[in-house]
Amino acid sequence: MKIRKALIPAAGFGTRFLPATKSQPKEMLSVVDKPLIQYGVEEAVQSGIENIGIVISRGKSSIEDYFDRSPELEQFLEEKGKTDLLEQVRGIAGLAEFCYIRQKKALGLGHAILMGESYIGQEPFAVLLPDDIFDCPTPCTKQLIDAYSELGASIIVLGRVDEEGTKKYGIVKPKQISERVFQIEDMIEKPGPERAFSDLGILGRYVFHPDIFEAIKKTGPDKGGEIQITDAIKILLETKPVYGYLFEGKRYDAGDKLGFLEASIDLALKRPEFGQKLREYLKSHS
Ligand code: UTP
Repeated sequence: MKIRKALIPAAGFGTRFLPATKSQPKEMLSVVDKPLIQYGVEEAVQSGIENIGIVISRGKSSIEDYFDRSPELEQFLEEKGKTDLLEQVRGIAGLAEFCYIRQKKALGLGHAILMGESYIGQEPFAVLLPDDIFDCPTPCTKQLIDAYSELGASIIVLGRVDEEGTKKYGIVKPKQISERVFQIEDMIEKPGPERAFSDLGILGRYVFHPDIFEAIKKTGPDKGGEIQITDAIKILLETKPVYGYLFEGKRYDAGDKLGFLEASIDLALKRPEFGQKLREYLKSHS
């Protein structure tokens, strides 16, 4: 079954990025010249997704405006003959069919995904966390979708993490099936190096069979009162196989200040307009 739909949860508070996120969504912070969330949207589109449901909350309406048409700006650019910019601005609204879903309270990522149940219906779907930027030869979501079409079961993206990473991410107990595919036997949220099963951490891309929704409904809140997607996947594991896919490429944790700066520098260095000048500037500081 073709995977047509994706959910992008964007209803969190972005506390790691305060104070910048006090009155603007983290997902709208700009990496080089595009908001974080646009990287996720473009990756989804390049992976064959046509319909994108964005989970938002109060104070996030700039996301809706961003993916809408902007008649005054478009008219202004047209009058000034700025055709390149006009095309770019128009293209954003046409990237996909967008739908907005409200999460009334930030009750965790699992809960945010559950809010998308009626939008998704009974079909497999992708989830992209907008604060993870993936820079991959094949779009990361496409890598997962291709693996899903072979395996027919929920699959999550995995990356190798260091000791610090075992304190930040869910860690899986893997059974290797092929070079990049692992059957997941167990998982644990932020275990730290002593309790970690492996060095394979869960990152921000997933392709779910719709049976994940029932698993989320059975998931209780964690100590912080949030419904975690990792806990829901653990429940799913009791009855269904779940796979992990070691993606090929590079990933940035742009929801974190240092990761955001690394993504900004690396992606700016790739830009023909100013990459070389930035490289020289950085060299002069080393
Ligand atoms: P994060 O945990 O990275 O985002 O969740 P956060 O909670 O906004 O940020 P910090 O950790 O406090 O800095 C990953 C994604 O899931 C969304 C967030 O908006 C983010 O894009 N999310 C998280 C929701 O939509 N709802 C939630 O209840 C929690």
